[in-house]
Amino acid sequence: MSVAIEGAAQVMRVPDGVPYLRSADEVALEPGDLTLDVAADARIDARGCAVIPGFVDCHTHLPFAGWRAEEYERKVTGVPYEEIARAGGGIASSARSLAAASDEQVLAQAERLAREMLQHGTTVFEGKTGYGLSREGEARSARLGRELAGRVVQPMTLTGLFAHAVPPGFTADEWMDEAEALARECDVDALDIFVESVAFGNEHLARMGRIAAATGRPLRAHAEQLSTMRSVPVALEHGARSLDHLSRIHADDIAPLAAAECAAVLLPGAELMNAEDTAPARALADAGAICVLATDFNPGTSPILSIPLIIGIAVRRYGWSVREALLASTLNAAWVLGRALDPDDVLVLDGPAEHVPYRLGHNPVAVVIAAGEVVWVRPDQAWRVGR
Ligand code: NIG
Ligand code: FE
Repeated sequence: MSVAIEGAAQVMRVPDGVPYLRSADEVALEPGDLTLDVAADARIDARGCAVIPGFVDCHTHLPFAGWRAEEYERKVTGVPYEEIARAGGGIASSARSLAAASDEQVLAQAERLAREMLQHGTTVFEGKTGYGLSREGEARSARLGRELAGRVVQPMTLTGLFAHAVPPGFTADEWMDEAEALARECDVDALDIFVESVAFGNEHLARMGRIAAATGRPLRAHAEQLSTMRSVPVALEHGARSLDHLSRIHADDIAPLAAAECAAVLLPGAELMNAEDTAPARALADAGAICVLATDFNPGTSPILSIPLIIGIAVRRYGWSVREALLASTLNAAWVLGRALDPDDVLVLDGPAEHVPYRLGHNPVAVVIAAGEVVWVRPDQAWRVGR
């Protein structure tokens, strides 16, 4: 049995066996057919379409509970963040929502969102803890993350963002003892920390690096998002797998990051919605960094779950080519999660790849094939699929 995708205007291909690419020159987009030898039977008419790997969203904050739309309105109308935080907003607000929601409520919301992500082409995603904000809350968040993984179509990895905000009643140093205990007792695939003037410092990043090494997990960090902390050399010294955000990376840190085996995970949705600086993405790509795009999907800084929309913002703001953006949201993103691209995760788009960033806001995903199965066909594109 096979899924035969026929007559595509473009089939995206990356060289076999490479874990990541530092340049999109090796990404091919040529006309052709694609046959998957899988346990399903389908023929897909792909005339006029691009056929590309499924998107890998390597940075989301699922599972979370509720939203923060009122806070967004306050933010855009000019209320300073400090005032929003004093009024109980920000991460603390999402922590209260998570604590107030039942397990089933949290999982049902996250499952619906994962389904919506699938319809936008995301066939693998990562989630994080981080809205628990207490020892018990973070342990629960890790448990819910794993339960979510069991309920969604996509493979989901889980990162312990145990150092996200300093919980009330703790100093950052004291909380790191709790974060270390959580890292040792919770079932997570990677560790993350929010390094920021209002959160944790470089000494805590170094400690998280030691915890990651001791427990055999990759180290990731939210770094250089709102202020320049010079976290890059510290993270590289500890062998970080990725540095995420980088809107305010110091110019002197671009070359060392680009030379390292550490991904630059750029989050243009947060840059837009949270009015952050734009990461020097053109310079990072030109310097040969392992460039990655992700949504940062969370109820505060980036309530965006669509990778096509993220690609659109990135191409416009970063001065990236379509190939660069596609590479950053497929092969290179999978590497951040320690995965190879699954050749049986395939998207058929409703037009050429160049339309993904150009038709900003349009969802170009016509057909989603995950693990060799047709899991989503957009109703107006059903005519393409036969058995
Ligand atoms: O990636 N930077 C810290 N954490 C999240 C957002 C946290 C929130 O506002 O809920 C981020 O932007
Ligand atoms: Fe984030």
